[in-house]
Parts: sequence; structure tokens; C-alpha cells
Amino acid sequence: MADKKIILTGDRPTGRLHLGHYVGSLKRRVELQNSGKFDEIYILIADDQALTDNADNPGKIRDNIINVVLDYLSVGLDPAKTTICVQSALPALHALTFYYMNLVTTARLSRNPTVKSEMQMRGFADEGLPAGFFAYPVSQAADITAFDATVVPVGEDQLPMIEQTREIVEKFNRTYGETLILPSAMIPENIMQRRLPGVDGKAKMSKSLGNCIYLSDDSKTVKKQINGKMFTDPTHLRIEDPGHTEGNVVFTYLDAFCTDEHFSRYLPEYANLDEMKDHYRRGGLGDGTCKKFLFNVLEEELNPIREQRAKWASDIDTVYDIIKDGTAKAVEKTNATLNRVRKAMRIDYFDDRSIIGDWKALLG
Ligand code: TRP
Repeated sequence: MADKKIILTGDRPTGRLHLGHYVGSLKRRVELQNSGKFDEIYILIADDQALTDNADNPGKIRDNIINVVLDYLSVGLDPAKTTICVQSALPALHALTFYYMNLVTTARLSRNPTVKSEMQMRGFADEGLPAGFFAYPVSQAADITAFDATVVPVGEDQLPMIEQTREIVEKFNRTYGETLILPSAMIPENIMQRRLPGVDGKAKMSKSLGNCIYLSDDSKTVKKQINGKMFTDPTHLRIEDPGHTEGNVVFTYLDAFCTDEHFSRYLPEYANLDEMKDHYRRGGLGDGTCKKFLFNVLEEELNPIREQRAKWASDIDTVYDIIKDGTAKAVEKTNATLNRVRKAMRIDYFDDRSIIGDWKALLG
């Protein structure tokens, strides 16, 4: 067990996945899956976590499970290599969460910067904070440890969750003996990929801001988002004017997505992005050309994804069986961890009758 390489990661099924998810995490998962370097790979559709801030709308979560699975399958996650499973159907995760809650202080939970900013966004500061939402990092620690994950590929905003998980693992192992595996986060190397801004340049893609490009968007929608919402450089008024590439969202996206090969295919007057940026800064390169190039780069990435999505979407029965089978496998895996945990805590009363002897001795 200890030296297996195991990946666990997941997403909340609250909507379709977008380019931020793609460069921040999905693309990497597919590479890791195909690297052949991992013994087991699990992807968790975190519907319970999604309920922590959508308790009044379970229908939204139910509907989006299929969107997220289709996004997974269409980017190339392969159910033969990667087990896709649904969190709410894994009772071991609930039990582990309950035990781990005792190993974390509320003061520690209050310091989680990702939870803090999500609280702000959801107005929980005024309306009252659901205890389940406040504690979701503990449930995420249960997700990660239940699968014995060694590596957790995630976006940068998830680092506080992995840190919290590591603390719980260390505390658990110190308290009850060496039982849980200490996981590591893996975040994208490319800085622009860690936190892709929305098309409007705002910090993050978010459905409510309307600044996303979804993996399932058609070409027309992608073009509309690029041409209509991407503001370039306000000082670059005429083509001849010198321009700025930093803070220019078109270049931020090119930083995240384009390769030298894209230039030979769509913009052969430059060998690479540095040459293109130099020209933009000198003046003489128009925003229209830059946006057209970006559109071509994104289309090249999105076209095969759209094709696969259409294929899977026409066979929903098979998709259902994929997550049903994946979840059954995950039940086994996570139950095994829960058994180990119960043994370590010595609360495995009914696994055998050995406690009878202990009780008898106690009573003299
Ligand atoms: N918190 C993650 C997100 O919002 C989703 C998630 C749930 C997750 N459980 C996980 C990610 C376990 C990695 C590992 O995207």
C-alpha cells in the first residue's frame, strides 16, 4: 500500500467545466493518466461538497453530474485507466469526515483563505455560515485520504485544502499510529495556467460573471467571448501605437495555450510568442490579428473535445454505467481505508469478538 502511486482529484458538479478547469487541472490529469506512471487514478464528482453551498438546490447538482462526466470523457479521461466516481455514494467518506472533524480546530478552519473568499462570494458573512460549508476542507481530507492518494493534481486555489489534509494526516498518525498516506499537491508549472482569468480579465472564470469559455461552447460562442469581452490594451488605439502585453488578457490566454507549432500553422510571420509580443510592444500589430490567432489556437484545442462530447452525449446509458461501475470500485477502495482507520482508532468492535475478552478483564 505505502509505495503505490495513487492520484485522487475531483470537481464540484455545479456547472459545465471551462477553460480554467481545463488548463488548471483537466489537461494535466489526462497527461498523468497516459504517462503510465500511476498505479491507480480516481476522479471524484464531489456532489456532497457541492451541496455544502447549494443545500437549497440539489436539483442543480443532480443535473450537472452528467455535464461534468461528459466534460471528463470528452477531454480524454479514459474509464479503463481512470475510475470516475460519485462522492455521495461513498459512505466511508462521511464516516471519515466525522472522525477527522475532531482533529481540526474551528480556529484552523477559519484561516483557510479559499474558504474565506468563497464565503465572501456567497454572502455567508451576512446570511450565516452553514457548518457543513465551513467544514468542507475536512471532508476533502476524507476524499483524499480514503483513496490513499499520494498525488493530488489541482488548481492553485486548492493548495489550502491539501495543506489542511496533510495536517489531518499527521495528527491522525500521531494520535492513532501510522495509518494514513501523506499526499502532495501538484499544480501546473505554467503560471498562466494556474489561474486563468475570465475573458473580461477578472481574476477568475465564474458562471455568474459570464466570463467563461466552456469546453462545450460552440465556435460562435467562443468567437463572441473573444471579440466581445476581451479588452486588450486601452493605450493601443491604432495599430501603429506601441502596446502592452502584460495585463492584456489576449496575451494572458496565449501564454496559457499557444505553442510554437501554432505559429507555423496560423501566424507564420512569427516563430514564437516572444516575437509576436515584441512586435505588439513596438507597434504595428493589430488587436484583430491577435484575437484571430487566439481563436484559432483555442479552436484547435476545443474541436476534438467537442467531437468527443457529441459522441458520448449520444450514448448516455454507457456514461451512466461508467460512473456506476467506477463508484462501485470506489466503494471498495474507500471502505478498506475506513476499516483501517476504525482499527487504528480501536472502534472496530464488531470485526471480531476480541473486545469481549477486554471487557471481561476490565470487569475482573
Ligand atoms: N474542492 C474542489 C473544487 O472546488 C473539489 C474537490 C472535492 C476535490 N474533493 C476533492 C479536489 C479532492 C481534489 C481532491 O474544485
